[in-house]
Amino acid sequence: MTTPTFPPSPVSSRQVYDDNASRYDDFWTRHVLQPHRRLTEDLALRPGEKVVDLAAGPGVTLEMLRKTAPAAGVAVDPSRQMLDRGVALAKSEGLELVPVQLTAQAFLLGCEPESFDVLSLRFGLAYVDWENELASLSMPVRRGTGRVALLTNLASSAPQALKTYHAFMDELGREKAWPPVPKSTDQIEALLTRGDLEITHRWVEPVRIWFANGLEASDWLLQSGYIAGEALDAFPKDLLDMLKPIFASKLEADFGEDGRVPFDFDIAGVVARRKP
Ligand SMILES: C[S@@+](CC[C@H](N)C(=O)[O-])C[C@H]1O[C@@H](n2cnc3c(N)ncnc32)[C@H](O)[C@@H]1O
Repeated sequence: MTTPTFPPSPVSSRQVYDDNASRYDDFWTRHVLQPHRRLTEDLALRPGEKVVDLAAGPGVTLEMLRKTAPAAGVAVDPSRQMLDRGVALAKSEGLELVPVQLTAQAFLLGCEPESFDVLSLRFGLAYVDWENELASLSMPVRRGTGRVALLTNLASSAPQALKTYHAFMDELGREKAWPPVPKSTDQIEALLTRGDLEITHRWVEPVRIWFANGLEASDWLLQSGYIAGEALDAFPKDLLDMLKPIFASKLEADFGEDGRVPFDFDIAGVVARRKP
């Protein structure tokens, strides 16, 4: 497959997501609808509440907007294509979504304190300095009632891909990278509660995605945005094309079941309330 792709940079990830805005739901969202719904239920959203969705992507903000209408929601994402799609989907349901084309970091810098009821960040931790910044996610939400909701794959996810990639890097004598996401809900809770947040919900749901063969699995890793970054961008394209079938056969040999290849994801959901 590839070179280390962690951690991704905002710039190259934006490119990946611009390229994939229309296919993103097919690559990823349809597999994780249940954790998305569960997190939204845990938020107990009420009509009129103001929601901001960081790293909003194309469409999942909608699920929250349906519950908070007639209030407008805010979608923050550096990818124009992702935002356009989200706004169009909201409009088609008569819902109002205000797009803000910024990184999460830039938005947080300029955001008015306590100006939202809910801040949601779903599958976007890889793009923020979460080890240092999770506690500060409470700033935009109101004291006492405001909630912060996180949905993320944990570092234990897709062990089939990670083990194959690590073995590959060992063979090539190249440096290994690790997923830029938390290891556990314990780790997320410890970071959130450093600020003035208390956890109300936390859980992990398993999600398995099947691929017809190793090549399809390898293409998914490269095209879905699951892995992206400067290291990947810098990796020579012809070398990548040469290595991909080898990576694919390793996946099949080590993890294939009747030729098909599964990737197992640990999806963590956490909701925290801002203390009064
Ligand atoms: C994996 S998608 C998640 C989309 C959506 N939240 C979901 O759960 O389906 C990651 C999104 O983060 C956006 N993104 C990339 N870098 C970002 C950054 N620095 N700040 C905020 N969003 C970023 C991408 O454009 C993409 O839409």
